[in-house]
Amino acid sequence: MIYLKTKEQIEKIRLSGQLAAQTLDYVAPLLVPGITTKQIDKLIYDFIVERGAYPATLGYGGSRLANKQKPFPASCCISINNVVVHGIPGTTKINDGDLVKIDVTTILDGYFGDTARTFLVGNVSDNGVRLCQATKKSLDLAIETVRPGSRIGDIGAAIQEYIEAQGFSVVRFFVGHGVGLKFHEDPSVPHFGQRGTGYRLRSGMVFTIEPMINEGVFDVKILEDGWTAVTVDGKLSAQFEHTVAVTEDGHEILTLP
Ligand code: MF3
Ligand code: CO
Ligand code: CO
Repeated sequence: MIYLKTKEQIEKIRLSGQLAAQTLDYVAPLLVPGITTKQIDKLIYDFIVERGAYPATLGYGGSRLANKQKPFPASCCISINNVVVHGIPGTTKINDGDLVKIDVTTILDGYFGDTARTFLVGNVSDNGVRLCQATKKSLDLAIETVRPGSRIGDIGAAIQEYIEAQGFSVVRFFVGHGVGLKFHEDPSVPHFGQRGTGYRLRSGMVFTIEPMINEGVFDVKILEDGWTAVTVDGKLSAQFEHTVAVTEDGHEILTLP
């Protein structure tokens, strides 16, 4: 079931989304070689809680999902290089040349805002830079398709056509999702597909678009911790995510600082 949000609800999601985006702005300059992902996570927890909100990932999921999966133990996901998504903050240190993806979801006044970016630390390989730029561009192209009457499939097609023309691949296993009143709502928003297919968009829908783009093949595997998703070929992956509302005449990005 897809919840259509009222203007008042969208206003609340915008405030939460703004905080999530501000959290990423806050940590961006702190991503230097030597800092551990756990240190970054602590800074993110404090930043969010000091502003009267709560990190949605902390304690999320677990038993009702896959068998060995425990609730997610951190205030953000930090996924480096070949880690696609859901990296768990820990003792790993950031290194020069890393692609560092940070995904923050805030709950403010009961409303969810979900956003992620790829940060380039120091001297990144040319292909790493190209991958990151293409991923950002694919999200922009996808958002451009969003308006009443367009289709979910238009979003995926915009991403897939652009990304495959660049020689990269679109991860299939994880998709965007409705968001706002809950963390993960209907509909699913694949980052691949065909124009003119899938649900027709209506004003009041709010969902994420969060393309995960791989340098090599699109296949991923989940590590023993039940969360960390990595590329099967060990190559790089990048991601950007915004929470987007369908408005009466187009769309609005709700995760801007
Ligand atoms: N924020 C992620 C998303 O974009 C979900 C992370 S769930 C977690 O949907 F438990 F791994 F944190
Ligand atoms: Co999301
Ligand atoms: Co997210």
